[in-house]
Amino acid sequence: MDFQLTEEQLAVQAAAREFAQNELWAGVIERDEHQKFPAEQIKKMGELGFMGMMVSPEYGGGGMDTVSYVLAMEEISKVDASCSVIMSVNNSLVCWGLEKYGTEEQKRKYLPGLTSGQIIGAFALSEPEAGSDATSQRTTAEDKGDYYLLNGTKNWITNGTTASVYLVVAQTNPELKHRGINVLIVEKGMEGFQTGPKENKLGIRGSDTCSLMFTDVKVPKENRIGEDGFGFKFAMQVLAGGRIGIAAQALGIASGAYELSLKYSKERKAFGVPISQHQAIQFKLADMATNIDAARLLCLQSAHDKDAHQDYAKSGAMAKLFASKTAMDTAVEAVQIHGGYGFVKEYHVERMMRDAKITQIYEGTSEIQKIVISREILK
Ligand code: CAA
Repeated sequence: MDFQLTEEQLAVQAAAREFAQNELWAGVIERDEHQKFPAEQIKKMGELGFMGMMVSPEYGGGGMDTVSYVLAMEEISKVDASCSVIMSVNNSLVCWGLEKYGTEEQKRKYLPGLTSGQIIGAFALSEPEAGSDATSQRTTAEDKGDYYLLNGTKNWITNGTTASVYLVVAQTNPELKHRGINVLIVEKGMEGFQTGPKENKLGIRGSDTCSLMFTDVKVPKENRIGEDGFGFKFAMQVLAGGRIGIAAQALGIASGAYELSLKYSKERKAFGVPISQHQAIQFKLADMATNIDAARLLCLQSAHDKDAHQDYAKSGAMAKLFASKTAMDTAVEAVQIHGGYGFVKEYHVERMMRDAKITQIYEGTSEIQKIVISREILK
């Protein structure tokens, strides 16, 4: 087994680290506090190639592998998990899905803007009553011949107000259950399409999350992705890859909280010595470092599986399950190591603790990851 990264992968990692350290630290607390969308930062990320990393250069992408994507996600998430979720949805769910299953016309129309960061994409699956139970779609896409009539509501949509292109999951043939579901490309500004107010969230507050409302929206037939009834499989496929991205986000939050804790523990003195010399702190640092290394290996394993065209549903779910728990546990311990300073905003770890929680919820809760893993083991 080769654990060495290639020169190209190392260069991507270094570029993401430099960008995150130089361009994202400043302002991250303010963006979090005021729920300010990182518009300028996302524009730069597009210019640097982070918004469509795995897309072929033919459509404006970076033509990179999933391992490089994981490395970049970790570095950006170390500093600002709001930026990285915007990046993750755009890369894993929207760009990857469009490139893999879109028509040539759809790819040429949407991918250059999405990969360059000129426009942002969103993926709309969750509904007020269909979160984990994704087959129970209430949003309908009635087949009207040359268009679909779209009606319904989507909830908790990342990039909800800022996106220009939305991949919307909707039911066309209820009697066929999940085999009657389609995914339609909906553009901002289509008549009958409205977005709700931004949610006031616990974490990833710089990213915008909102509801989408569709009332008799006429979506041309050519905006359907794949064959009639392919929508649910499309959603499952993109989410399987998306989970690798969110696993890397969780890994980054954990690494960020750990690095700050390590530094702080060497500087802060208590009982006459730096607190890193107390075994109580050393045990915490050892647990953090061990879990982070294990999470990184799972992330890289799942990315490798995807790049090698092997099945990655199980390894991606394992990576997300473990990395998101590691993010939560590490961030909580980071606050503990920082003591009172950890409880105030200037030291960053309280934000990381709030940001970590969502990684156990979106793109499938931890319980959903266990369902996916156990099905793969038992089949
Ligand atoms: N690839 C391809 N097809 C797949 C698949 C995969 N990885 N996983 C399932 N399928 C197919 C199955 O083969 C089956 O097809 P057939 O019946 O034709 O054989 C079909 O999909 C239905 O599968 P299941 O019977 O397994 O479906 P289920 O209802 O029992 O449960 C589930 C599946 C895993 C629980 C699924 O509903 C699920 O993943 N739920 C969580 C949804 C989720 O992750 N939501 C996140 C929203 S997006 C988001 O959060 C983005 C963001 O903002 C950051």
